[in-house]
Amino acid sequence: MSIHLTVLCENSIDRVIPFGLLGEHGFACHLRTPEGEFLFDSGSGTTIMNNAKLLGIDFTKLQGIMFSHGHYDHTGGLKQVLETTKSIPIYAHPDMFSSHLSKHAGVMRNLGVQWPKAELEDLGAKFNFSAAPYNVTDQLILSGTIPRIHKVETGDPNLLSLTGENKEITDPLHDDASLYIKTPKGLVILLGCAHAGLLNIIDHALEVTGETKVHMILGGTHLKFCSDEQMSATLDRLEELNIDKIGTSHCTGLRGARMLAERFGERFFSASVGVEIEI
Ligand SMILES: [Fe+2]
Ligand SMILES: [Fe+2]
Repeated sequence: MSIHLTVLCENSIDRVIPFGLLGEHGFACHLRTPEGEFLFDSGSGTTIMNNAKLLGIDFTKLQGIMFSHGHYDHTGGLKQVLETTKSIPIYAHPDMFSSHLSKHAGVMRNLGVQWPKAELEDLGAKFNFSAAPYNVTDQLILSGTIPRIHKVETGDPNLLSLTGENKEITDPLHDDASLYIKTPKGLVILLGCAHAGLLNIIDHALEVTGETKVHMILGGTHLKFCSDEQMSATLDRLEELNIDKIGTSHCTGLRGARMLAERFGERFFSASVGVEIEI
């Protein structure tokens, strides 16, 4: 039996029908697998219920929700989804609720989860945190902490965190996780924002799963914010892996998408709202 992926929340839409799909800054993807239906991330909270209804996705059927990290544009729809699912397992990294801030033009913003953990638990969230790779099912592995090995992947300097002593530091985003999906065609790597860096994520995915073939990457790559050196190392690595499909969105940005499209041609696609993939 196949796996069916539907991009539910993303910055852009790629379908005219059904009428009324909406884009927002964020990412969410629905998974229909032989072992049940799951949600990976929940967007910013403005579009998920609208898009799910129009795309025929029923959240009462969900077996669980996985989170890529605690940023608001991935966790913002959780409260609305919980109102439908009631009690449901949630899989995430233990640092999901840690301090996540940004500073642009001197203005500090809180990018973290918008509600206290206890409030979400009252609505039915059953949190399962793991810093180690975690098998949600035999086929779905949530990465846990991704080792930062590649020096070229410096992270985004505008993302900050507050320490216990209220000191501003570059946000380590230890909670940045990806979902590794084992399929007969090879590994599918589902990305939230890829704050850990795509090179680090790919290395970790291959090591954890023991797979050698990456069939597809799907989701946000954060290449919008990277150096030319990182972009070029990433493009080279994707080429070396001979990936069949590269579906990027969200924080990939137009520059990143253009460079991927130029290098990978037909293998590249924009993972916009409404894109459905059968594997
Ligand atoms: Fe994001
Ligand atoms: Fe993020």
